[in-house]
Amino acid sequence: MRKLLGILLLATAPVGVYAAENSLSWAYPSEPPPGTPNADALAPGKPVNQALIATTYTGLPRMPEVVAKGKPLPCMQCHLANGGSHPESAALSGLSANYIIEQVHAFRDGDRADVRTGRMVQAAKLASEKDIKEAAEYFAAIGPDRQKWVKTVIGNEVPKGPAPFGGGGFRYHAPDGGMEPLPAGMVVEVAENDDLVRARDQIDGGFVQYVNAEDMALGEKVANDGACGTCHGVGFKGKGDVPRLAGQHSLYMIRQLKDMQTGARKDKAVAIMKPIVAKLSDREMVAVAAYLASKTP
Ligand code: HEC
Ligand code: HEC
Repeated sequence: MRKLLGILLLATAPVGVYAAENSLSWAYPSEPPPGTPNADALAPGKPVNQALIATTYTGLPRMPEVVAKGKPLPCMQCHLANGGSHPESAALSGLSANYIIEQVHAFRDGDRADVRTGRMVQAAKLASEKDIKEAAEYFAAIGPDRQKWVKTVIGNEVPKGPAPFGGGGFRYHAPDGGMEPLPAGMVVEVAENDDLVRARDQIDGGFVQYVNAEDMALGEKVANDGACGTCHGVGFKGKGDVPRLAGQHSLYMIRQLKDMQTGARKDKAVAIMKPIVAKLSDREMVAVAAYLASKTP
């Protein structure tokens, strides 16, 4: 049933440009088809004026126009004013400005294409070079304190969701609460507080990832054996233009490792990662992503 739903969800994504379904499809949340229940579409109980918050008491840098009001959607609609983002996009806070610019170009040029990148590609195609630079400098200037956005719970259970794993809205809690088993080799990211995530609150609207103890241990081993820190920096906090992995969303990192392996992500610098991902099994990708996400950025 789950598999059938997954196929149905994918069938609604525009086809052609995107890579085919792969063995980690559950880490690529897609929007439910029109007319089906969508937990994301529920109005938040507490609306938040993000722009106001960002310019008043968060201590964030001054927000450029493209981040606050860009077309067709401002960067902060998906990446939030603090760059912490939701698991279906990517945390941008504290990445180097050069890296951010390179990646926006990669989306624009067709070098990052999967079922999740459609709207990011659209944003990249419409942004001017000036916009991209301003947005990059804004997100790059957000310091480590504001990069903490994902908490980790280690165990064999995960809160029940309103949608099956992998469906849009999976990251909220079922109205009646309750827990369900977390399958080995899977990590689930859930809103810390549904209302704040729906409101896109960038101060308290963070996420909790649920991970098995065995996967955390395996992840630590993969990170050590693969010497990820030699390029990604001490504590995986990023080094020069090599992105931080500490505190990045695990679902996002799972997608990137898989996409670099399959070739769906193929911008120039991916050549450096190619031999590393070639050796990783799906289980190892999930484990190392969960381990890195649990680190303090
Ligand atoms: C409609 C939602 C949406 C908007 C608007 C959006 N993005 Fe994204 N962005 C995404 C998604 C989704 C991804 C992750 C794609 C993936 O999983 O491969 C992403 C990924 C990225 C990445 C890659 C991060 C990394 O670590 O490599 C960068 C950089 C980025 N976005 C910058 C921007 C900038 C700058 C803007 C505003 C000009 C913007 N985005 C607007 C959805 C969006
Ligand atoms: C030899 C240097 C090197 C090593 C070792 C290395 N990486 Fe990377 N990694 C890179 C570079 C460079 C990039 C950026 C690629 C690009 O610009 O597209 C990257 C990108 C990534 C990304 C995408 C991040 C994002 O924000 O999109 C992930 C995830 C990642 N690496 C995980 C790992 C893991 C896990 C290991 C260890 C098993 C590892 N890397 C080891 C150089 C390295």
